[in-house]
Amino acid sequence: MADTHQEDGAPAAKVWAGRLGGATAQSVEQYTRDTSDLRLLPDDVAGSQAHAAMLHAIGILDDAEHTALQTALNTIAGEVAGGGFAVRPDDEDIHTAVERRLIELAGDVGAKIHSGRSRNDQVATDLRLYARRACADTVLSIARLQDALIERARVETATVMPGYTHLQRAQPVTLAHHLLAYVEMLQRDTARLLDARKRCDILPLGSGALAASTLPLDREAVARDLRFSAVSGNSLDSVSDRDFAVEITAACALVMAHLSRLGEELVLWSSAEFGFVELPDTHATGSSLMPQKKNPDVAELARGRSGRVAGALVSLLMTLKGLPLAYNRDLQEDKRALFEALDTTRATVDVLADLIDVVSFNRERMRAAASDPALLATDVAEHLVRRGVPFRDAHRIVGEMVRRTVAEQRSLRDVTLDEWRAASPAADEALLGLFDVDAALARRDIIGGPGPRAVAQALDHAAVLVEATQRSPIGSEE
Ligand code: ARG
Repeated sequence: MADTHQEDGAPAAKVWAGRLGGATAQSVEQYTRDTSDLRLLPDDVAGSQAHAAMLHAIGILDDAEHTALQTALNTIAGEVAGGGFAVRPDDEDIHTAVERRLIELAGDVGAKIHSGRSRNDQVATDLRLYARRACADTVLSIARLQDALIERARVETATVMPGYTHLQRAQPVTLAHHLLAYVEMLQRDTARLLDARKRCDILPLGSGALAASTLPLDREAVARDLRFSAVSGNSLDSVSDRDFAVEITAACALVMAHLSRLGEELVLWSSAEFGFVELPDTHATGSSLMPQKKNPDVAELARGRSGRVAGALVSLLMTLKGLPLAYNRDLQEDKRALFEALDTTRATVDVLADLIDVVSFNRERMRAAASDPALLATDVAEHLVRRGVPFRDAHRIVGEMVRRTVAEQRSLRDVTLDEWRAASPAADEALLGLFDVDAALARRDIIGGPGPRAVAQALDHAAVLVEATQRSPIGSEE
């Protein structure tokens, strides 16, 4: 008997023991078992409560049986909530664990709960209930990070910094504008998660193993009970559909891609080379060897963990690829990927919200980095455009002037009016006044730009959106 599972007393009979007589090999038991779905316990119990109520309504359970089942399910719900629900080593998954416990508590009537139900439609239902909630929770976490970014942006509207392309200083922006770029990305992430949530909001229960049931199940009643907006339309599809999990994991992968960019910028900005950011000691780490080091590990891990979530997405897609209809045991692997994506994303969003709250920005360093008048070369070219010069000509004229000043180690600000006039007859006195960086920002006051009025509007707009999410994360239409 070395190969069968004997610890913790006699193993519970398998739910399929009628068909397969002998004991399962312990290696098989270990390999196929997956209780990483423990977090689905509350959803599994809720699903069973709704299913039992429906079985009662259609006459499969009599009053006494229904009462007995609901009493036992309530007890289990209490055990789950209180952390006292024990999964035994021979429970194959949480669905069998709950059913076993139900039979322990309610006796033979517990064996009626699975009428018209399969673990295939059960797990699809549990996962959708969980995922639906997780979308809303993730969106709330994202809103908190957006809030932190907005609050910081509010006090950094006059903090001038260089905007970069190719990581070369390009044109002046403000820190507020830069931070609000992340608020925009996160707003799209929220929209994606809430869109994915709609695909979670469909009830698979009643699809049975793959071909529904001969019992007159009232699926709509179960959907109402579990507050699903609709019932699924095809039993084969609904037991094997994990699109919602892919969509959520993809949305998380993109959140993490965004956060990895924020992480990277915090890493760069906290280097001596940039010196834009100072991390408080509470949110930095030291070196075990170099006494002087102060490291931005939180930002680095935010960057690094994005790989895990992208990996979860690939893993899920690979699991689904090529699966014949309908349920296949491969689908059991969906949970690790989805949970990994949600957990990592949420933890990263939360820790970065904390970090943004406490990080300090070195306004002088940022302004100094944006003070090279060459960052306003485009302003000069556009000034010439206003005076009728075709942009390509203006670009060349200013480019040549930049080349000359670089060679002569002068600044663009030092070029005299005569020199500009020699380069272009359209040059005028006003051109010499272009090299004030605050004025340069004020010139960029169009919608979506870094100008002070545009940023003030963007701030208000972002705050309204985030407040709306916080008030009602799933939106007013649902
Ligand atoms: N633990 C399984 C899963 O997550 C539950 C469904 C099992 N169904 C089956 N036919 N073996 O997918």
